[in-house]
Amino acid sequence: MSIDHPSFGRIDANRVIIFDTTLRDGEQSPGFSMNLAEKLRMAEALEELGVDVMEAGFPVASKGDFDSVHQIAQKVKNTVVCALARSGGKNDIASAGEAIKPAKRGRIHNFISTSPLHMKYKLRMEPETVLEVIEAGNRAARQFTDDVEWSAEDGSRTEPDFLCRCVETAIRAGATTINIPDTVGYSTPEDMARIFADLRARVPGADGVIFSTHNHNDLGLGVANTIAALKAGARQVECTINGIGERAGNAALEEIIMVLRTRHDVLPFTTGIHTERLLRTSRMLATITGFDVQPNKAIVGRNAFAHESGIHQDGILKNAATYEIMTPESVGWTRSSLVLGKHSGRAAFRDKLKAMGYDKLEEDQFNEAFSRFKDLADRKKVIYDEDLVALVDDEVRDH
Ligand code: KIV
Ligand code: ZN
Repeated sequence: MSIDHPSFGRIDANRVIIFDTTLRDGEQSPGFSMNLAEKLRMAEALEELGVDVMEAGFPVASKGDFDSVHQIAQKVKNTVVCALARSGGKNDIASAGEAIKPAKRGRIHNFISTSPLHMKYKLRMEPETVLEVIEAGNRAARQFTDDVEWSAEDGSRTEPDFLCRCVETAIRAGATTINIPDTVGYSTPEDMARIFADLRARVPGADGVIFSTHNHNDLGLGVANTIAALKAGARQVECTINGIGERAGNAALEEIIMVLRTRHDVLPFTTGIHTERLLRTSRMLATITGFDVQPNKAIVGRNAFAHESGIHQDGILKNAATYEIMTPESVGWTRSSLVLGKHSGRAAFRDKLKAMGYDKLEEDQFNEAFSRFKDLADRKKVIYDEDLVALVDDEVRDH
């Protein structure tokens, strides 16, 4: 299933293209907008992270969006810079084409809704007219670049026969990537698998394009749906750092990448992502937007590699693999942290004291300090190093 692609050349059958839309779909969520300087900093970080395509904005939407896509296109050298456009928008495609002009490799991503609900109420268009718009939009985009993506907005709620006709039309008109978004996060992994298997089996020309998956997280299934789509033949995933995006967000890049890496035994896919840069990229976005991720967020949350329970801490000290399925270093943390709290045991307490230089306590001093620590931990949620210093110094002085 290897494919010749206008931007990437020959792509191996199991190479997954990582399409980051932090700067477009991510930025669309309330409170997450970024100014030009911030977008340029993020674009640089995404390039260093190794994403294959970055969707930099929606140029026709505003002058600010046009300028940021245009400047990112000037700055970025190794990543394809993509601009969004409505297939039937008045100046959308020309504006996207102009914005990506300076890019070493530029893509236009055009889209139109294809579900009965969207065609009837949002577009007020007949299905046959939607097909004409798809044809015209993709032909127009090809005037600017050979790398053209088309998306069926609300594709996962589109009637299957009509979706096949839309995709066939887009391919005939020159699209080289076909994206099927789960725009409202409604699908299950089984739905996703069926959609991609169906399109690949039934649409003429399907062998010559990359299928792409774009999943929103309204039911918390964004990453699961992405993995199901890959298993059914999709080879591009659309995602954002920290999972930011419309409503409940998009599938999180860092989670998808670490699923593929950690479960390579059953998901034999490769990407170009430098995983050890995941944490710093996540932190940069949080600092720029002012929204931190929740502590229990997979991969990049403060507690993702923190252990408090005594049983777990004891296991980690003996062999980290007992409670860690990936190393913290592999995603950019310096090491796992053993957090001292009321669930901690003697092993972690001893380890912590040792790390703080208290390695010469007599056994009875240690026992007394541990018992005081447990009393303190019952009263206090977080035990800081200073608490321990006070506690152990008291113990040493009392003897
Ligand atoms: O969710 C969606 O349908 C989109 C499209 C514009 C690709 O973001
Ligand atoms: Zn989206």
